[in-house]
This record gives sequence, C-alpha cells and structure tokens, in this order.
Amino acid sequence: MTQSNRPTILTGDRTTGPLHLGHYIGSLRARVQLQHEARQFLLLADTQALTDNVGRHRKVTENVIEVALDYLAVGIDPTKSTILIQSQVPELAELSQYLLNLVTVARLERNPTIKEEIRLRGFERDIPAGFLTYPVSQAADITAFKATHVPVGDDQLPMIEQTNELVRRFNNTVDRSVLVECEAVLSNVTRLPGIDGKAKMSKSLGNAITLGATPDEITKAVNDMYTDPNHLRVSDPGRVEGNVVFAFLDAFEPDVRNVDELKSHYRRGGLGDSVVKGVLNERLQALIEPIRTRRRELEADRGEVLSVLRRGTMRAREVAGETLSDVKAAMGLSYFL
Ligand code: TRP
Repeated sequence: MTQSNRPTILTGDRTTGPLHLGHYIGSLRARVQLQHEARQFLLLADTQALTDNVGRHRKVTENVIEVALDYLAVGIDPTKSTILIQSQVPELAELSQYLLNLVTVARLERNPTIKEEIRLRGFERDIPAGFLTYPVSQAADITAFKATHVPVGDDQLPMIEQTNELVRRFNNTVDRSVLVECEAVLSNVTRLPGIDGKAKMSKSLGNAITLGATPDEITKAVNDMYTDPNHLRVSDPGRVEGNVVFAFLDAFEPDVRNVDELKSHYRRGGLGDSVVKGVLNERLQALIEPIRTRRRELEADRGEVLSVLRRGTMRAREVAGETLSDVKAAMGLSYFL
C-alpha cells in the first residue's frame, strides 16, 4: 500500500476520566493494531468534554494526561500514531464555525445520541448551545483530518451520519469536493458490562476496572463481580447469561474451549463462583500488569508525555491547516492571498 491510499483513521475520547477495560476491549486493543495499517489520529477530546462539564474544567484538563498515559501504556506508538489535544488545534474550532451554518437546530435536536444524553443529564430545559452543537464539532474533528474510517461504538453512529450529511452539504454549497465522507467502523466485540452487572462499564458508575488498577484492586473487583444470585451452593446449576464473570471470560480468555468447558460445568452444577473468579483474576492480572507498569514509568516522566502531545498536536495542526486553507479558499475566504 502506498502512503496516499492508506486509510486515515480518526478516533476520539472525551477526557473525563482515565480509561478502563471497557475501552480496552471496545477500542484501544484495535487501535494498537490499526496503527500499523493506517494513518491514525487519536484525539483527546477536551473541548467536547467541556460541553457538559461546565465548572469542572480542572477535571477535564487533568484527564488529558491520564488518557494520554493510557494510550501510551497499552502500546500506542507516537511514531506511528498522532496523539493530539483537541483544544490546542484552533483549526477545529474554525471549521466547526463554518459547518454550523449547514445544519439546523431541529436536525441537531433529532440526533438520537444527543437526545439520549440530554435526557441522561437532565438538560431538557437548559441545553448548553455548545452541547447541542457538539456533533458539528465532532464532524470538524473528523473532516479536518480527511478521515476515511472512524472506529466507534454503536452509540456514535448518528454522529457519523451527521458528519457525512455536513460533508455533502459543504461540498454541494461550494460545488467542489473539498471534504471527504467517512465510514464508521463498528467494533465487533460486545460491550463489556460493569462489575455490578449494569450494561455498561463506566468510571462514574463506579463499576469499572481501570488500566492502572493495582493487583488488589483487580482481585477485589473480580470478587465483587455480579454472578448468578440463585447459584447458592457449589452443587447448584448456575446461569451463565447475565453473569459478569463469564462475560469477562468471553472477552479476555483467549482459550475459547476452556471458556466453553467452564460454562457447561457451571450450568451442570459443581463449579463454584470462586473457582471461575480465580481463572478470570489470573487473566486480568496478566493483562493489566504490563500496562500498569508502563503507565507508572510514564507517569514519572510527565515532561516526556507532554512533549509527545506537543509534537502530535503540531503535526495535527499542519494537516488540519491544509484542510482549512482548502475550505476557506472554496468559500472565497482568502482575501490576502
Ligand atoms: N464523541 C466521542 C465520545 O463521546 C468523542 C469524540 C470527539 C470523537 N470527537 C470525535 C469520536 C471524533 C470519534 C470521532 O467518546
């Protein structure tokens, strides 16, 4: 593959907390692979995080470094991938400003992800304008880098749809193919539940295992995992469906036959929770140990992490700057050339 027809991938994470095993399974593991096959941009979405964290700007900015540490600790290689801080690329804000004219408030209000988030946050009465319009800023993130592929969870599909609408609208308006449509790449792994059995692992729900978890934290999380409440005695038959320990084994135990055997033994009865938890604990300890060690080393050298972010952000500004020149030229906004 030549440089020019390599796919360009853009991913983003709101910087509201360190990443956890749900992120690892849902996206991080794939990104480590993809960086060898594609030109990859990883966006630390602090500007977007601010849209629903007014007054909590400290939390948002502090977590930029935490997420960057997670990226580097799992094996994102800054010589292969470009890690950038959203707020430090003014071209993204500039492009958003132009795209905002190409979408109606009604269309933004119909975006299913936005609708759901408004409900969850109780914003019904007072929606911050920046929050309502964040799909447009997300479209700017994607199109500024001419991303061809955007790996996302299914909750983000409406964002991709809206991005492509904006691309078509923009290109039509200027009668030139300036911006590039993108394709969503859905991760094929089912979502990792929280240790409490809730559908989604989330730091704010307190049901997550972070990538820097200590051995004791991992053991405690595994011991706390929701299993089958009716599996009282070892000899009782147990349920595998909705059982968090088995959901995790499906995600983290590479030996599928071993998982199948454990499942049928558990269903038959005679297999205690503590034994299955022991197997899982071992897997998770082995997975997280090198990540945690690398994270600690990097933590001790914040200057180096910051310089990785500075270099990535500068590279990103160059790429976004080129797109912006084309965008502005197409609109006639190039008075001084
Ligand atoms: N909306 C994403 C999230 O909530 C973060 C994000 C910001 C993003 N910009 C993006 C994702 C661009 C993909 C592409 O996690």
